Amino acid sequence: MPLSPERVIRRHIEPSDAYERYEPDTGGHEPVRLDWNESPFGLSPRAQATLRAFETGNRYPSIDQAPLRTALGDYLGVDPDRVIAGAGLDDVINTLATTIIEQGDEVIIHEPTFGVYRSLFNLHGATVVNVPLGPTPDFSLSVDGILGAINERTKLVLLCNPNNPTGNLFPRDDLIKIIEATSCLVAIDEAYAEFSGTSHTDLALAYDNVITLRTMSKFAGLAGFRVGYGVFPEALMPWFRRAAPAFFNVSAPAAEVAIASLADLDHLHANAERIIVERERLSALLNEIPGVLAFPSATNFVLVSLPVEDALTVVTSLARHGLLVRHFNHPHLVQCIRISIGLPEHHDRLLDVLRRVLESTPEDQT
Ligand SMILES: Cc1ncc(COP(=O)(O)O)c(C=O)c1O
Repeated sequence: MPLSPERVIRRHIEPSDAYERYEPDTGGHEPVRLDWNESPFGLSPRAQATLRAFETGNRYPSIDQAPLRTALGDYLGVDPDRVIAGAGLDDVINTLATTIIEQGDEVIIHEPTFGVYRSLFNLHGATVVNVPLGPTPDFSLSVDGILGAINERTKLVLLCNPNNPTGNLFPRDDLIKIIEATSCLVAIDEAYAEFSGTSHTDLALAYDNVITLRTMSKFAGLAGFRVGYGVFPEALMPWFRRAAPAFFNVSAPAAEVAIASLADLDHLHANAERIIVERERLSALLNEIPGVLAFPSATNFVLVSLPVEDALTVVTSLARHGLLVRHFNHPHLVQCIRISIGLPEHHDRLLDVLRRVLESTPEDQT
């Protein structure tokens, strides 16, 4: 008998929702990846030494990842018993969904935002309710809209702050208004906190319904190692611990490299500072190009509006020169590209090609 997908696959899974990486034609150029908000810097000295010395791949990691969670707790100034780790922040969000979502529960998000939220919570059977951000240039959070959308099926309000892909930071008062007015969970994804000059960890300590989510992928430059974490409500820890995968899904070398990186904090902060300086330099130079507007960013990327009808053509032209940036299929962002902060020489090349592409006719851009 042929196997039919309906017989075995869960109803919520749409193969078309798979998260894919756009791999464009780079015309034979070595790609400069300014599309995935990765760090342009390698491992810190202690992390490099730790990785080189790692020899115990035959052994499981610590079952409760106590050394890693202690290092993360120390870094944030929180009790390690409140820390859930995972193979990247995506995995921590998956643990959150596994713990709280039942069929038909609602999760409120604000699009445009990080695309994984919608597909991941849909996969768990949640109804994702979008309370859109305001239009450019402010991309403001609709506090009243979010509070109005909360009902008895709402399990979670998920706020991305600073927001990807718009780059803006929502006012702290807006977050507090939402947190104080609801009894559901409010998660604040702070994947880019270290570039924003602010942190919301204190809200997770002050309110029993707040979760803050972090990653080592961005400021610590460990995207390939997959280490994410979050601070979860004390009273709910037994449930989150029950739903978290064994070893929190963090491999032994990834845990060791993350711990060693956190012992090199001065190095990581210096790298973050270099990225911030370069972000501001790039934004200023982009704003000198006629019709181009770089939106203020509190992250390691900038969202840039271009004087074209659809910026996808520009993305394709840049890719042919080996310069990879992102375009988003969202009505507010059709004219925009998102540029991750790389090295100054990457941006000088990008600016040069971008100027030439924008000077050419739209027909030439394709
Ligand atoms: C807002 C946001 N949250 C979470 C993630 C996932 O991070 P990780 O690499 O830790 O899975 C990303 C990655 O780009 C992100 O932008």
